[in-house]
Amino acid sequence: MAKITLPGLIDMHVHLRDPGQTEKEDFYTGTSAALAGGFTKVFDMPNNLQPITHSSQLAEKIKSAKTKVVCDTGFYFGSLGNNIAEFEKIKDKVFGIKLYLNPTTGDYLINTQILEIVMKNWPRNKLILVHAEEDVIGQVMEMVRKFKRPVHVCHVSSENELKPILKAKDEGLPVTCGVTPHHLFLTEDDVKTLGPYGRMKPSLKSKKNQEFLWKNLKKINVVESDHAPHTKKEKEADPPLFGVPGLETTLPLLLSDKRVSTNEIIRLCYESPRKILGLPEEKNTKTIIDGNAKSEIKNSELLTKCGWSPFNGWKVRGKIQEVYIRGTRVFENRKILVKPGSGQVLVP
Ligand code: NCD
Ligand code: ZN
Repeated sequence: MAKITLPGLIDMHVHLRDPGQTEKEDFYTGTSAALAGGFTKVFDMPNNLQPITHSSQLAEKIKSAKTKVVCDTGFYFGSLGNNIAEFEKIKDKVFGIKLYLNPTTGDYLINTQILEIVMKNWPRNKLILVHAEEDVIGQVMEMVRKFKRPVHVCHVSSENELKPILKAKDEGLPVTCGVTPHHLFLTEDDVKTLGPYGRMKPSLKSKKNQEFLWKNLKKINVVESDHAPHTKKEKEADPPLFGVPGLETTLPLLLSDKRVSTNEIIRLCYESPRKILGLPEEKNTKTIIDGNAKSEIKNSELLTKCGWSPFNGWKVRGKIQEVYIRGTRVFENRKILVKPGSGQVLVP
């Protein structure tokens, strides 16, 4: 298994911080990290410094992306329940709406009453993505039962979160879910050594919870990095900001674990996100890997602007050699081969 050719991978959950917090990441460094990690399409969350809840903010964001991205980039809209009039204006520019039912980075929290308002008003055929942890996941599934519209639950991290989702899936409801590499490969025990670099939302859980995720991986739709870069200074502050980068480590981690076959990687990081987001297949968009090469994840070699990873020092298998987008070679041997702005801003 020396050379492996994968379709260009899709990460449906990243935070590229542009505009507003480009000291953490920007559209160029974030999409460069994506290519270095074997991903050719990323989907950016709306919790910018100024939350993307108005059409003018979305327009500004898209304008910045157009001059900087080196891989394909799509967007989600945000809502605190008071921007319903904006939905019609932006619906053709975004792949879904992201709602936070638990506190996280940015002032962005809503309750289930507001979720219901958005459920009623967000265009019927468009995706709703939720950050919904153990305390609220049951109520969110009730809402899916009531409205029967596609909902993607981001980053499930525990048995108590996954069980109600699996039950809803068994009932045939249109719910999908994702898991992050950090919840698959780290546990709460790692916080002892990682300190603030092991802090994110949802938090790392027990070994038992982690095993439940692995046991049910076949029923989980996608692996999403939740790439959430913060500066080292912000991570070492008291209190630290929540979130870890992931774009460059997802694929090497998955390739290194015997529990995940190449076909499973394709399902989790390409087929399922492609179907959930309604993206066409692209024959000449691909990632070529040396499956035998061994390497070590090193903070100093990362292209993400934040310059650190909770997996620093991990020995992994599989080196991302080349990446092609629609026939153009865009990445080879740790080098970006195309100019900022050569990636596409995706629309549904
Ligand atoms: C994310 C961030 O920093 O934007 N942080 C995190 O811990 N995951 C926000 C989020 O996705 O919850
Ligand atoms: Zn996130």
